[in-house]
Amino acid sequence: MTAPTPLIAGNWKMNGDAASIDEARSVAAQLGGKEVRVAICPPATLIERMSRALAGTAVIVGAQDCHCDETGAFTGDISAEMLADAGARLVILGHSERRAGYGETDELVSHKVAAALRAGLEPIVCVGETLEQRKAGNALAVVTGQVRGSLPSELAGKAWSVAYEPVWAIGTGLTPTISEIEEMHTAIRATLRELFGAEGDSPPILYGGSVKPANAAQILHAAEVGGALVGGASLEAEDFLGIIRAL
Ligand code: 13P
Repeated sequence: MTAPTPLIAGNWKMNGDAASIDEARSVAAQLGGKEVRVAICPPATLIERMSRALAGTAVIVGAQDCHCDETGAFTGDISAEMLADAGARLVILGHSERRAGYGETDELVSHKVAAALRAGLEPIVCVGETLEQRKAGNALAVVTGQVRGSLPSELAGKAWSVAYEPVWAIGTGLTPTISEIEEMHTAIRATLRELFGAEGDSPPILYGGSVKPANAAQILHAAEVGGALVGGASLEAEDFLGIIRAL
């Protein structure tokens, strides 16, 4: 079984305006010929402009969330079809900031994943334990439970990935040890095989949480790490490129 092509995705969260498109342009202009897929997920307001700016480059533009329905009376929400129409090709779903801030459950995330697939978007499905859960010795059980609950059967035969993002490592500068990352990614891989059989070997399992140019090489070369989901360090082209080059 050949390893999946690595994916390095930047999650800009609620950051960025028209001027920030230059950072994305700069990433696209300096990408080397590495065997890696690179994505940037800006806020929804920038998806269309960024897609136009990056047309013809290797950088994929993605979104950070979607609604389950295609259209309807859901004030403030955006459907997967609308994101695809604006130029997005992938979407981050189930990020811990949405699970914690908006009460998103595994079941809702699973419906959002199905909606993304319906619209032709490639989902990046996020999972991760809190510090309390890790301290209580429940990290593996929590994360594999989220994997089981958040991945609908519609994923079979499609392109998608899982991102392991320990909540306590996000934006804190803290990271798990390499052996903790490998242990978790191996457990996630085993769960994907349980759910999808041999196809469970295909989706890359990304690591996210305080990935920086300085720690990227070690993390990206760890067993079962198939790329990274990068927050803060994806906002500036030089930092993001430093992570991509570490692969
Ligand atoms: P940081 O890289 O800023 O820790 O954020 C990680 C993250 O939440 C990416 O989705």
